Amino acid sequence: MRVRFKEFNPEKFSFHKDPVLVIEDFWSQEERALFQDALQRSTWKCLTEMPEVKRVFPNCGNWLKAEIGPQEATIFRNRVTLPCIADFIESFPNIKQRHMTFSYYSYGVGDCLSTHDDTGEDYSVERQPHQDHTEGRDRSTQPFPALRRIALVAYLHHRWDHDWGGELIIYNARKGKDGKLNLEVAHCLEPKPGSLVLFTVPRYHRVCRVDPLADSQKRLSIGGWFMTEHHG
Ligand SMILES: [Fe+2]
Repeated sequence: MRVRFKEFNPEKFSFHKDPVLVIEDFWSQEERALFQDALQRSTWKCLTEMPEVKRVFPNCGNWLKAEIGPQEATIFRNRVTLPCIADFIESFPNIKQRHMTFSYYSYGVGDCLSTHDDTGEDYSVERQPHQDHTEGRDRSTQPFPALRRIALVAYLHHRWDHDWGGELIIYNARKGKDGKLNLEVAHCLEPKPGSLVLFTVPRYHRVCRVDPLADSQKRLSIGGWFMTEHHG
């Protein structure tokens, strides 16, 4: 479903019926400016400084990632925690704890993210426990066995032209007769300023390479997951 935030009813929407949700005009200019200001003060890590992630995503440029400060994390969490997300999360049995983890990302010319379905352990949140914004959680380096349920990406840049690339491609996957997985493009989503994309996990997707025509412009986003941890 693609909808403008003004016309969106988060009480009625169901991720079980419609696993990909695009909300346009979700973030105001002021909100984007607030996050942009915060991310400019952030400490960035580039892909080459994250060898485990780079191993999973080779030849994907050298995009940047940064931790969201506690103040902005609270603002972000309060805005994105929609009833339809809670409904989907609570539909899974035997939940011990709910988690969410989000980071800033900056993609420049040549950066991309190859096809994956967000279930991989190699780049998993278990290796970044400091990113966990769950209230009261022990931020130790111990891993926790959380399952990603909903992936989220929020676009923070003020401008994005059609020619600049960086589209989020979401696929439908079906097994062929030979048992091989066939992927078909289901959604091709330009990173529209102020939009919010949510989809259920697992789901194959990728980020197209940012085109040289983007020049010095950056594709700025907050990305992450809503997760569940289960008993037993
Ligand atoms: Fe992903």
